[in-house]
Amino acid sequence: MSVQRRPGWAPDEVDIDTPSTARMYDYYLGGSHNFAADRQLAEQALRAWPDAQHLVRANRAFLRRAVSFLAHRVDQFLDLGAGIPTVGAVHEVAREKNPRARTVYVDCDQVAVAHSRRILAAVPGAGVVHADLRDSAAVLAAVETAGLLDLRRPVAVLMFAVLPFVPDEDDPAGIVAAYRDATAPGSYLALSHGTDDYRPQNARAVGEVYTRASHTMTLRSRTQIAALLDGYELVEPGLVDLTCWRPEPDGGLPDPLGGDVQRYSMYAAVGWLPQGAADA
Ligand SMILES: C[S@@+](CC[C@H](N)C(=O)[O-])C[C@H]1O[C@@H](n2cnc3c(N)ncnc32)[C@H](O)[C@@H]1O
Repeated sequence: MSVQRRPGWAPDEVDIDTPSTARMYDYYLGGSHNFAADRQLAEQALRAWPDAQHLVRANRAFLRRAVSFLAHRVDQFLDLGAGIPTVGAVHEVAREKNPRARTVYVDCDQVAVAHSRRILAAVPGAGVVHADLRDSAAVLAAVETAGLLDLRRPVAVLMFAVLPFVPDEDDPAGIVAAYRDATAPGSYLALSHGTDDYRPQNARAVGEVYTRASHTMTLRSRTQIAALLDGYELVEPGLVDLTCWRPEPDGGLPDPLGGDVQRYSMYAAVGWLPQGAADA
């Protein structure tokens, strides 16, 4: 039995003793929606990968840049593995650029979903689906039922830092392809994904830590990540190191890692589904 007191915001059914990848990520970001078990394992992950807190912030910065880019092109967003919304969440960034933008957040973590529902209760054009993204048919049916997105029109599918939690045996490429095939021509995919290309020893160590979390973590090579984007035309600059994807024109905030992409060890890309792709 847990000795940790359950805070009021945690649904009764939440397992607070098994470290959750969503809540560990919240801890790296400096959030408060995490429990002792999450923090303990997150501290072990930080010992294996000391740059993790910079990395998650750089990932959120990429999310802002990618969603800003996309909001000029589409007005529907499907955020898969959305996590616990923090400042600069997708619906906020999208609406800044396009007041008609609609966003559906999908996550399998109960705390992420409960917190998102609370935050979004009074927000027009935003909704939350509690589902496992690996079951694309169930996710898309729930999205249609919620009536927020029209899948006959282009949608931006977002997969930020989530596919490492889909192991190879669950066929991540097949899952991405299922969303690709279910979305209209003119749709987009934006993804970020951790890599073991640069620091294989740290990658192995952090992977070992995550064997004790709610999801295991699989970091992938650039070639493997490129394969996930099959069928999409990559917008410039293509699949690149995270901080190199369309950096802010004025340079943005100073880079705490001095531009060392190996310390970030994440790739990012935005792809576009050309007209006629669905018939190919
Ligand atoms: C590292 S966080 C990323 C959060 C957010 N996308 C971002 O980039 O800031 C990964 C999120 O994916 C969620 N997740 C992992 N596997 C999932 C699955 N199979 N279905 C839905 N969500 C999943 C976790 O619960 C967690 O909230």
